[in-house]
Amino acid sequence: MSVDTTGSRSAAGPADFDSHRFDAVQLIRIKRGGGSLSAEQIRWLIRAYTLGIVADEQMSAMAMAIYFRGLDESELPVWTQAMIDTGERLDFSRLGRPTADKHSTGGVGDKITLPLAPLVAACGVAVPQLSGRGLGHTGGTLDKLESIPGWQASLSNEQMMSQLRDVGAVICAAGSGLAPADRKLYALRDVTGTVEAIPLIASSIMSKKIAEGTASLVLDVKVGSGAFMTREDDARELARRMVELGEAAGVRTVALLTAMDTPLGLTAGNALEVREAVEVLAGGGPGDVVELTVALAREMLALSGVDVDPAEALRDGRAMDVWRRMIRAQGGDPDAPLPVARHQRQVFAPADGVLTRLDAMAVGLAAWRLGAGRARKEDPVQAGAGVEIHAKPGDAVRAGQPLLTLHTDEPERFERALESLEGGFDVSADAAESAPAGRGATGGSVVIERVS
Ligand code: URA
Repeated sequence: MSVDTTGSRSAAGPADFDSHRFDAVQLIRIKRGGGSLSAEQIRWLIRAYTLGIVADEQMSAMAMAIYFRGLDESELPVWTQAMIDTGERLDFSRLGRPTADKHSTGGVGDKITLPLAPLVAACGVAVPQLSGRGLGHTGGTLDKLESIPGWQASLSNEQMMSQLRDVGAVICAAGSGLAPADRKLYALRDVTGTVEAIPLIASSIMSKKIAEGTASLVLDVKVGSGAFMTREDDARELARRMVELGEAAGVRTVALLTAMDTPLGLTAGNALEVREAVEVLAGGGPGDVVELTVALAREMLALSGVDVDPAEALRDGRAMDVWRRMIRAQGGDPDAPLPVARHQRQVFAPADGVLTRLDAMAVGLAAWRLGAGRARKEDPVQAGAGVEIHAKPGDAVRAGQPLLTLHTDEPERFERALESLEGGFDVSADAAESAPAGRGATGGSVVIERVS
């Protein structure tokens, strides 16, 4: 393959593809100037990029042009569909049961998928949940489940279908066949500063979810310091565009905007989060995790036309039964002790007062630096590493009381983790002044808004 003077690549694509139909540089110029790409141009670009005819450097320039200029209401559905068309589409229509899935844009301590999938399945709706591994400060669902001894993330499409029939819930790795254009483009965006573009995030998430074949989809769009979207307006815009894409593709879709200023629950880290998810399934667990799990379950059931109270299925142990079967079906032992990190260190309250802020990003970075997350896709993660939280915003604390326990197998990691927590929390001596602890904190609601 060689690059000619105009920057366009000469490579022969498959016989049905005209690699000379458009010129990548010309398309980049249109978008750079704020113009609209035609449906034909978009389809050509995505296919040519997936085939390696449009070069990475050209697609990087296009992603940057989109970062600044956006994709308009006519471009975005075509862009998303073109990404779907680069791969396979799963079909659960023969399952004989409604299907619903949830996608979270990612947050700190976000273990909601773990109790949610078995809970919704226990209420009669099948949950095909194709998940990913974590990158950066947000954890990945597969990394969490892999801390359960024996549990396997990879399933064939046939295994997935049979588990959905038998158990009703599957959480497994998304195969490389779903929207391969997104896989390639996401890796490129990750290294070119173009992840945070609303149309690119919307098309990336929705191409995979639509290709996955779920009938209904609930989106958990996080907003706050520990989320992709730190401003509510941006999160609302992302939610709106994803809901429109889903509905246009025939997937019943709603979104909840939820708070991510402080970590969800009391743990961030793989095995630590599994432990907390099991507490929720046992009818306990932190209030914010229970609230969000039940809120998302209600939306998934409502979209599927099932009138069952999910809170009851948590209380009476039905969701726990499905969890145990789901873990066993993928080789895991739900009764095996979870890994515990070899070293612990505590962070103490500096004064008497009220904890007024515990920053999600600071805790997420600390968990990551302790070994719970990875810097590069191929890095291993530690199952036991992470942060245990002993007080949430709004809680009264005493000087010297432990606020956090840090866990890692490698004690040399403590120093960098502690650095990321510097300035990450505030204790106010004046309890009255600090009363409004913020959403997601003790007593506040995690759900900010519903977008449909
Ligand atoms: N998650 C995705 O799958 N894609 C994005 O672009 C961002 C988050």
